[in-house]
Amino acid sequence: MKITKAVIPAAGLGTRVLPASKALPKEMLPIVDKPAIQYIVEEAAAAGITDILVITNRGKGVIEDHFDHSLELEAMLERRGDEKTLKILNDVANLANVYYVRQKETKGLGDAVLKAKDFVGDSPFAVLYGDDVIIGEKPAVGELCEAYEKYGKSVVGIKEVPDELIVKYSSLSVKTLDSKTYAVSDMIEKPSIEKKLSNYAILGRCVLDSEIFGILEHTPLGAGGELQLTDAMRELAVKKGMIGVDFSGTRYDMGNKFGILKANIEVGLKHPETAEQLKNYLKELADTL
Ligand code: UTP
Repeated sequence: MKITKAVIPAAGLGTRVLPASKALPKEMLPIVDKPAIQYIVEEAAAAGITDILVITNRGKGVIEDHFDHSLELEAMLERRGDEKTLKILNDVANLANVYYVRQKETKGLGDAVLKAKDFVGDSPFAVLYGDDVIIGEKPAVGELCEAYEKYGKSVVGIKEVPDELIVKYSSLSVKTLDSKTYAVSDMIEKPSIEKKLSNYAILGRCVLDSEIFGILEHTPLGAGGELQLTDAMRELAVKKGMIGVDFSGTRYDMGNKFGILKANIEVGLKHPETAEQLKNYLKELADTL
């Protein structure tokens, strides 16, 4: 079944990147010249997703404005004959049908996803975490959708992470199916090192059966007193089995300060307008460190 709907949770408080995220959602923080959430919407659109629901709270206005036309700016660019910039702006507004709903209380990622129940209906859908930007040749969520189509089971994007990170993420019980695909039979959110199932963690992307909503509705609050998506996904994995895909792109965590710096440097080193200048600058700087 072709996946055409996606949910982007972007209602977290972003406490790790305050004060940058005080008045602006962290999902709007830039990587060189585009806000993080634009990379995510572009990834979804490249994977054939046409309808996207963004879960917001404060800062909803700026996200809505970003994916809308800006008539004033566009008229000004037209007067100046700046076709190139005009096209860039038009392309952003035409990426996908983007809808918005508010999560009124920040009660966790599971609660945010539950807000998408009516939008999703009965079909499988993708979730792209709003602060996880993944850049690669192929859209990561597209790789997950392909696995869903092949195996007919919910899919999570996974990567192997060191011990110091597994305790902050989720840990999965996996069996290898092929070089990048795994069968997932169990998972635990934020385990202690003694309780980890492996060093494979869910990172930023999943494709879920709509059954997840019924499960979320009866899932008790978990780690941090929040409704954890991982706890509901665990029930689905234990009941029906799940697939893990070690996606090919590079993930940047825009929810922490170092992730933001890394994303800007690595993307800046590839951007045609900054690559040369940044490379020379970094080389000079490195000599002084
Ligand atoms: P995080 O756990 O990284 O978000 O959630 P957070 O709560 O903003 O982080 P800190 O610890 O305070 O810095 C991953 C994604 O889920 C969204 C976030 O916006 C982020 O994109 N999220 C999280 C929600 O939409 N609602 C929530 O209640 C929690």
